Parts: sequence; C-alpha cells; structure tokens
Amino acid sequence: MRHVRVRLARRVEQYEIAIGAGLLGELGDHARRALSPDARRVAVISNRTVFKLYGAGALRSLRAAGFETAHWLMGDGERFKSWRTLEAALEFLSAARLERTDAVVALGGGVVGDLAGFAAALYLRGIPYLQAPTTLLAQIDSSVGGKTAVNNDWGKNLVGAFHHPRAVVIDTETISTLPRRELTAGLCECIKQGAVGGRKLFELTERFLIDKREALNDAERLAELIAAQCAFKAKIVAGDELEAVSRSDSRSRRILNFGHTIAHALEKVTDYKRFRHGEAVGHGMLAAAELGKRLEISDGNDLESLRAAITLAGRLPRADDLPSSEILSTLARDKKSVGGHIKWILLERIGRARILDSREIAPRTLRASIRAALHSNI
Ligand code: NAD
Ligand code: GLY
Repeated sequence: MRHVRVRLARRVEQYEIAIGAGLLGELGDHARRALSPDARRVAVISNRTVFKLYGAGALRSLRAAGFETAHWLMGDGERFKSWRTLEAALEFLSAARLERTDAVVALGGGVVGDLAGFAAALYLRGIPYLQAPTTLLAQIDSSVGGKTAVNNDWGKNLVGAFHHPRAVVIDTETISTLPRRELTAGLCECIKQGAVGGRKLFELTERFLIDKREALNDAERLAELIAAQCAFKAKIVAGDELEAVSRSDSRSRRILNFGHTIAHALEKVTDYKRFRHGEAVGHGMLAAAELGKRLEISDGNDLESLRAAITLAGRLPRADDLPSSEILSTLARDKKSVGGHIKWILLERIGRARILDSREIAPRTLRASIRAALHSNI
C-alpha cells in the first residue's frame, strides 16, 4: 500500500491518502484511524451504479470496525450534483442521526464526492468525511484538496466550500469496472497534471499510456501512477490551499485548471451532453497549448507531446463542428474570471505553467488557436 500525506498550513490539518488494491475491504480500519474515538455512526453516500459494485463490501468493512452504518443513493450523473440532491442528502444525514463526531463516506466518482463532501461541510456546520473515490478522475484529482460543490442554473461548481476529508481511501481495483470513456476522461486529467506538474510526472504518465492496456491491469503500476498524481496535487494544495486570487505563479493552485477554460465552454455549448468533463479537458489542453505556441510562450514540440499523449488516452468526441464564435461568447461570460478578465493557464514547457491575463491576448489569436485545436482531428 502507498501513502501520500496532504499537509495544510492554514488549519494545520493533515490527512492520509491510502492507495492500493482491495482497500475498500479495509475502509473501516482507515475510518477508525482517521476519526475521533467517539465516532459511532458512518453514513455512506453513493449512487446505484457504484453501490451495486462496491457498496456491500464497504458497509461490511465499516461494520466490522464497529461502526453503525446507514446508506443513501443519489442519482447517477452530473445533473444530480444539484441543490435538490444536496437537500435530500442533508435530510438523510439528519434521519441517520449523525452527530458531530460521526462521519460521511463518499463512495463514487467526482459527482458523489463533491456532493457528499458539501453535505458534510454543511451538516451541523461541518462534520468529518472520508473520500472513497472509484473513478480515475476522482482518485487523482477531485477526492484530494477539499473542494466540494454543487451546480445550479448559473453554472458548474459555483456554490461550494473548502472542506477537507479526514482520509482518502483509493481502491485501485475499482478501475477495472470503469467504462472506457470514464477511463479516457481520467487519463486526460492525468496528462493535465503531468503537463503543469513536472516533466517527471508527465513522462511517468506517458509511459503508462504507451502500454495502457497492460499498465491498467498491473496493480503496482496503477498504484504508482495514482500515488505520483496525488503527491503532485497534495503539494500544490499545501502551497495554495484556497486558490488565492492574487496568485498567478507557476505553483498556484490555479494551474490545475490547465485546459479547463475551453473545456467548460465546450461543455456549456453542448449542453453538458457530448463530453465527459475529462474529454473536454483533452480538447481544452490542446487549445491552450496552441495558444501558447502562437503567443511564442512555448515551442511546438510540447504541443506535439501533449497531442500524442491525449491520442493515447483514448478517442475524444468530435469538436470540429462547434462554432468558435459561440465558444468565444461563452468564454466572455466565464464566471471564474478575475476583475472581468480570464486568467489563461498556458504552458511554457511541459512541466511548467504560465498564467496570462486575457488582456495580453489578441482576440484573433485566441480565435485562431481554438479553431486550430478543435480541427486537429484528435
Ligand atoms: P462521475 O462521478 O459522474 O462518474 C462517472 C461515471 O462512472 C458515473 O456514471 C458513475 O456512476 C460511474 N462509476 C464511478 N465509479 C465506477 C466504477 N468503479 N465502475 C463503474 N462505474 C463507475 O464523474 P467523475 O469524472 O468521477 O467526476 C466528475 C465530477 O468531478 C464533476 O462534477 C467535476 O466538477 C468534479 N471535479 C471536482 C474536482 C474537485 O477538486 N472537487 C476536481 C475535478 C472534477
Ligand atoms: N481540480 C482543481 C482543484 O482541485 O483545484
């Protein structure tokens, strides 16, 4: 089993990310170690798809560790990461009579993790929770770092809280049941973290992708990739826990949004129906790298390495039919802008990000970069 520690300066909290095959069978022991000795009840939030596969094992392990358990299943899909589901989740926690020393377990992908984490942040003004992520994306990204949220009519993830889990328990065996597109989406997020994180992480991810089929079935290699990705994310979070608005250096938490500005626009113009989030990030990274090349921030070689890696991750849904004018007008309404201006995450080179204010980018260069990237037939 591998361990990564997340150290937080702000609240002097720390938590362990445990990574290994079959760890859901030890979920109860991890919860016992992470929670107060007074913890009696654990409420599992999951969805039907994941619970059918992993719910019984998770509950068995929690009960064997002496917890009383309750469980509740939310709808499966991004549209259920909503106010309404949040309210129902809070009602469940109340009906399960959770006290402040008790805990929530989020068993599922990023949707379950973000919603259950937000419910734990709100219930009784904040109770402990554990992340038990079951998608690759959730294992390397969303379960680490304490961002929790729901979507609403104004957009995605615009209402939420920073609330860190007490522990993250990653059972690498859960990857074996992931649908192909979810795997591609998770691998795109691995590429993203490598692209901004460092050449070593990028190359580790590249090697994994080159023999993807064998690597995914090799428990040791899968754990190695996930641990390296989590260690990178933990380091960034430790250095900039709350994603300070004032920061625009190459180690600010904002760099984790590489590829996300265009990705969010692609998701929005297709009404969140065409792309898995990670797939849209695949296109978004190419557009950002193309922009960096045209602005002469980076050379073309890195764009090619990125394109090769994304191709190895899997096929992305087409994006060449989407009008760049619509994408540009969606970008203009981006609610994550600062002072009315988008902060673009570009690459100086693989492993080093550079943040640029949209005022430094000519609209025609942006338009041309988006067109070129979306027509690259990836
Ligand atoms: P998801 O949670 O919708 O899971 C994808 C699909 O896979 C779902 O249908 C799910 O039921 C199914 N599934 C999950 N685990 C499975 C398994 N082991 N076997 C078979 N099927 C399984 O999607 P996701 O990609 O995990 O997460 C996306 C969400 O994460 C988005 O809402 C995004 O905003 C959020 N996110 C949050 C952060 C953060 O820092 N909090 C970071 C990145 C993404
Ligand atoms: N996924 C972006 C972040 O955690 O900051």
